[in-house]
Amino acid sequence: MALSNPYFKHRLKLFPITARIEEDSPDQCLSLGGLDLQELARQYGTPLYLYDQATLDACIKDYREALTETYPGRWGITYAGKAFLCIAAAQWAAQRGLWLDCTGAGELAIANTAGVPFDKILVHGVNKNLADLQAAIVQAGTLVLDNLSELIKLIDLLDSGGVDSPDLWLRLKPGLAVETHTYTQTGQDDSKFGMSLTEIEHAARLCLAKGLPLKGIHFHQGSHFHDPSPLGQAIDLALDLIAGLRNKLGWMAETICPGGGWGVPYHEDELPHPSVKHYVKFISERLAEGCRERGLSLPHLQLEPGRSLVARAGVAVYRLETIKETAHRRWLLLDGGLADNPRPALYRARYSALPILRPTRPLAGTASLAGPYCESSDVLIETLSMPEMEEGEFIAIPVSGAYQLSMGSNYNGARRPAVLWLSKGEATLIQRRETLDDLVRRDLTLPDGWITDL
Ligand code: LLP
Repeated sequence: MALSNPYFKHRLKLFPITARIEEDSPDQCLSLGGLDLQELARQYGTPLYLYDQATLDACIKDYREALTETYPGRWGITYAGKAFLCIAAAQWAAQRGLWLDCTGAGELAIANTAGVPFDKILVHGVNKNLADLQAAIVQAGTLVLDNLSELIKLIDLLDSGGVDSPDLWLRLKPGLAVETHTYTQTGQDDSKFGMSLTEIEHAARLCLAKGLPLKGIHFHQGSHFHDPSPLGQAIDLALDLIAGLRNKLGWMAETICPGGGWGVPYHEDELPHPSVKHYVKFISERLAEGCRERGLSLPHLQLEPGRSLVARAGVAVYRLETIKETAHRRWLLLDGGLADNPRPALYRARYSALPILRPTRPLAGTASLAGPYCESSDVLIETLSMPEMEEGEFIAIPVSGAYQLSMGSNYNGARRPAVLWLSKGEATLIQRRETLDDLVRRDLTLPDGWITDL
């Protein structure tokens, strides 16, 4: 069949850069990194997640090129590990020279197991407890303080422990959010994240009085935005703050970090999407201009992307178990959903999909793609044009690399999926599928006699 139907070609653009429809094979199967997805699904079972290293590397390259071309000062990139973290992802980030942002002691433990160098680890968190702070002191080069209470706890720990402090950044709440789902906005005035200008000044005075290594100012206004303009006002505000601290306290920020948050297209309707370069150029130019206006030397610019580094590299593969016709819909019921991808239920996130076998088939009306869980919100895709399909076929959902597995659960006894890492025409397992034994491994039985007679 001639590959003329534009629908699958359009959807294919959402997939990793190595995705192909094998035109010469009889089944015209979807392949990734040179590997037949149907064979991988049969070999490893479903739901199955795959990460394509070529796409991960291409996403880093986009950031590096954009920063090199647009920012005249020194810069760096931190991978926001909350998007997808496991030992392999941490190894990849470290080997590519990225810093790794870890939220609290848990993600720090993963980074350490992966051997990420101490000076490349940065710790975030909105409400770090003593264990998080203790872990950060020992295991991280940089700690971002979210609030004054954390700073006071840190000072107590340092006073009692005789240990050195990591470099410190203060998280500013700019009072300005980016345009995105309200659940992923963080910069607004009443947000739980970060400090007001007054609190930051207080924190900076305390750091300097205690001789702590205060190095940077950080802010993050929200996640999955497509228009960088609200960042302009936040950069101006941060630079006013930095200039004010220089004048009042004689302290100058070495580093400024405007967080991450750049969005990605999840659905073919969102193509073409503004580029990473568009976003980076906006930040670089505004920062350079703002520094010039205020007579500040250019700070080190550290960006902190998560989704825009890993989302496109990830693909989720499901088995179509049941086809159900109801009054107004054709349901394609898959063997995964809410437990491995809660994003549609949480944010009404839209996704697209392709059948793995012969994605070149003509479309046959709309369908709803849902999972097996006991929740009416377990619908991965509300409505999407799909070809005629048969039970037992495999379906691939692109742009599945960010905030899916990292927010997954064991709901209804779901076993977390196997994860493959594809590179140079080969696949290697980086997370095995959870087993039934894993589900009860943490549980303890009640002692004899604990359940008293009624
Ligand atoms: N820096 C900080 C301090 C953050 O809190 C985040 C994300 C990032 C960087 C990276 O943002 P990204 O480039 O990945 O957008 N679960 C939501 C997203 C929550 C984002 C949390 N913070 C989702 O699935 O859309």
